[in-house]
Amino acid sequence: MLKHDVVIVGAGLAGLRACVELRKKGIDAIIVSKVYPTRSHSGAAQGGVNAAFDENDSWESHFFDTVKGSDYLGDQDAIEILTSEAPANILELQRMGVVFNRNDLGGIAQRPFGGQSFPRSCYYADAVGHMMLHGLFDNVLKYKTKILYEYFVTSLVVDNGHVSGVVAYDIKNGKFEGIAAKAVLFATGGYGQVYSSNTNALINTGDGMAVSIKAGVPLMDMEFVQFHPTTLKSTGILVTEGARGEGAYLLNSLGVRFMSKYAPKAMELAPRDVVARAEQTEINEGRGVDGAILLDVRHLGKERIMERLPQIMQLSIDFEGVNPIYEPIPIRPGMHYSMGGIKTDNNGRTVIQGYYSAGESACVSVHGANRLGGNSLLDTVVFGRRAGVDIAEYLKDAAFTKFDESLIKRDEEIFEKLKKSNGKERHGLLKAELQEEMRANVGVFREEKAMKKAVKKIEELKERAKNIGVDDKSKLFNTDIVEAFEFSNILLIAEVIANGAILRKESRGAHYRNDYPERDDENWLKHTLATLDAQGNIKFDFSEVTITKFKPQPRTY
Ligand code: FUM
Repeated sequence: MLKHDVVIVGAGLAGLRACVELRKKGIDAIIVSKVYPTRSHSGAAQGGVNAAFDENDSWESHFFDTVKGSDYLGDQDAIEILTSEAPANILELQRMGVVFNRNDLGGIAQRPFGGQSFPRSCYYADAVGHMMLHGLFDNVLKYKTKILYEYFVTSLVVDNGHVSGVVAYDIKNGKFEGIAAKAVLFATGGYGQVYSSNTNALINTGDGMAVSIKAGVPLMDMEFVQFHPTTLKSTGILVTEGARGEGAYLLNSLGVRFMSKYAPKAMELAPRDVVARAEQTEINEGRGVDGAILLDVRHLGKERIMERLPQIMQLSIDFEGVNPIYEPIPIRPGMHYSMGGIKTDNNGRTVIQGYYSAGESACVSVHGANRLGGNSLLDTVVFGRRAGVDIAEYLKDAAFTKFDESLIKRDEEIFEKLKKSNGKERHGLLKAELQEEMRANVGVFREEKAMKKAVKKIEELKERAKNIGVDDKSKLFNTDIVEAFEFSNILLIAEVIANGAILRKESRGAHYRNDYPERDDENWLKHTLATLDAQGNIKFDFSEVTITKFKPQPRTY
């Protein structure tokens, strides 16, 4: 059994940022990650991280844009923290060595992103996530942090309402390990793999959320799934909103900039929910191009494309066979981000003492029903840092609690059973069926009948999953077993999303119901909280939205 004061699960931006905060105070915090830290999905973030720096901008304006972007479901006390602490957090990253593009005065350059009333996304070409991830990782290394990578956390261990640690599977060596801790932070990212055509890494299987709900921690607002408007048609790979920030157009098959119909003022820079719906409407009504929309950057010119958007240029060439300097890029909406997640307070605390979450795995909630582009990287550093600060305080009075070692045995048996199984089903094929069902029936546009069909399909897949067989029977680096277990997490998360979406009988932000097309503040200005009962069935409860400054108004762009 390993024993450390703090276990941080996940080595993306939120986990690394919290880690720096703890390690600089000399605290015994370790990182446990399914992949080597620089392979974390944060590295795929492209376009920007928001902070109000310009003298003509203000954090109050960023605050309002974010509340409006969230369709008034975001908690305003949390959004105030996010936006008012943004500039200091970005400057701190810069001091840690993170590089940003510069403006003419030598300050941090900023570009417009959707739903902003002022250009406030700080960027490094179209690879800001990569730059931030490497910068923070350098700092984690500077503090000589112990990192257990290729370790897959399968259970959270809790004793009488206090966290005791985690159970983790050492993928390289094929054995389970108990890690006792006084505090645990899950910064485990999202669940993009629930959907086909997503922008997420294969590792994003909602593990932290699944482990949490199984340990009794509520998941909040899981029905809100973000579909990014510009993902490559064939693969779902992200094409940054920064392209539209730089001035790209969206065109239908008639060559028309159709956004004038859906968001006459903001046009291509309306928030993601609005643009994704507009694109899907154009495609559904027959004005798409082979099931896609065209993103045109040609008028920006070769020099600017190569300077500001080199990554998406190369991705378009490699994966779509299109050079954006000469041809428009075929794109369509793709699953990108989970607004919902593990319910936390403004310091990352959950309902279990000593158990924290931050970043995409958490729901603070600052994004409400729709996240604005550039606010997720900000969320990771602001709330990753705050969780680190709070954990350091918490440790002053915290002690190790009883670690139930039978949980190690339990997880070992689950894996052994999977390994021995010669069942006829294959997790990869079941996953593909689930992903397509979720895209088709719990996607950009939703309605009861289709979503009930999805729930039925999930039930069927749960039954068939009992008969999964794995082909790889070896001990070392057995990713076949890991993926089979990941599939159980994906299924559980899909079930929570679909049932939450059926429950919410209104349209708000990214959750659009054809059968309930209006926002209904009277009945639905509230968060949903999903938990599991003793039989493993999903139950829903509700909590109030914190409104401090901005009363809900009609949301137009
Ligand atoms: O479009 C993008 O570059 C993605 C940014 C984000 O999700 O915030």
